[in-house]
Amino acid sequence: MIKRILVTGGAGFIGANFILDWFMANPDSVVVNLDKLTYAANPNNLKSIHNNPRYQLVRGDIGDRVLVAELLNKYQPQIIVNFAAESHVDRSIHGPEAFMQTNVMGTFYLLESTRQYWLSLSASEQIAFRFLHVSTDEVYGSLTPNDPAFTETTAYAPNSPYSASKAASDHLVRAWHHTYGLPVVTTNCSNNYGALQFPEKLIPLIILNALDGKALPVYGDGLNVRDWLYVADHCSAIRRVLSHGQIGQTYNIGGANELSNIDVVRQICQLLDELRPRGDGLSYAQQITFVADRLGHDRRYAINAEKMVDELGWRPEETFSTGLRKTVQWYLDNPVWVNEVRSGDYRQWLTMNYGEKKE
Ligand code: NAD
Ligand code: DAU
Repeated sequence: MIKRILVTGGAGFIGANFILDWFMANPDSVVVNLDKLTYAANPNNLKSIHNNPRYQLVRGDIGDRVLVAELLNKYQPQIIVNFAAESHVDRSIHGPEAFMQTNVMGTFYLLESTRQYWLSLSASEQIAFRFLHVSTDEVYGSLTPNDPAFTETTAYAPNSPYSASKAASDHLVRAWHHTYGLPVVTTNCSNNYGALQFPEKLIPLIILNALDGKALPVYGDGLNVRDWLYVADHCSAIRRVLSHGQIGQTYNIGGANELSNIDVVRQICQLLDELRPRGDGLSYAQQITFVADRLGHDRRYAINAEKMVDELGWRPEETFSTGLRKTVQWYLDNPVWVNEVRSGDYRQWLTMNYGEKKE
């Protein structure tokens, strides 16, 4: 049976990787990508499928109920995967409003549009339908060095405007299942990295700054810890949750790669030293600069992904060292993509965020 799927936010980093991965796994699918095309989006991420008659990009807001109702009625999706969000913590500190609009109100309107559509389906279609909400480990707050990793039952304790808005959206999704019976699943994933990531996030920012001969800004003491997951592994996990996950459940997805930020930055420098050595023979590590800390910076995140492993049989394929090598190589191999995303908007962001962060 041909699958019809609506992906929101599919022109961003994870959404674009997901659509490409989905077509590899399900070449006969019809995929509609609803994306507002904010600064974080790049339709060229999906250039390779632009001419595929089974792929349709629609520019629009998940909060636009008229547009979303039209799309749902026209394409009759059996699956909705909601990636659409404002996703950068530092931007949420500078300007939280857009995060509330999209992550909270946008999710609310999307749930309402989905519920109306779902009610119009036959009983068997209603049972088969899935709404998968893509969320983050940041909703669980910050860990001390000896705390156990987050499980699906860890209490929510979001600390940034971004994580608070994602936590709110998770609660809405849960409530739409509990109250209205909407068949939802939620995934809470750790830090992703890989091809197509907008260079405001740590890993691509460090790669590109290094190649440009710029400072490599490390916030605070550099000892904040994140768990890193290669984006292709996140995509396979989402496919697994769609095919085998239980309605109403949440699933933590992680890479079992806990690393301090300074370790991550040093590993990137080592790879660049090998793959694109500096002209003067010195290491890129010379460019590391400690800068003022992020406000409210969460100290440590760690994911316990046992539920994904035990109940759904999913495991990540990449280690951090194999995934990081592929990622660095991708940025070296794609200078056209890199130049396109480094627009005036991006330069303004660098000036605003890093201009304030003195060494
Ligand atoms: P991203 O910022 O790269 O992409 C977000 C996409 O959503 C963009 O294409 C943007 O145009 C679109 N969008 C924003 N507002 C919209 C709206 N109102 N209507 C329609 N489209 C809209 O984000 P990402 O890193 O790909 O993250 C995708 C999702 O995964 C987010 O929900 C994020 O919270 C979650 N997540 C991200 C990570 C990570 O490490 N990047 C980890 C865990 C979870
Ligand atoms: O944990 C999942 C989350 O991971 C996702 O929900 C978010 O959408 C995603 O942006 C990411 O959030 P982080 O804040 O952890 O990612 P970021 O790449 O911004 O930062 C990673 C770590 O590196 C964090 O501790 C802050 C630090 N950092 C970041 C930047 C941009 C620096 O030290 N220097 C920097 O310039």
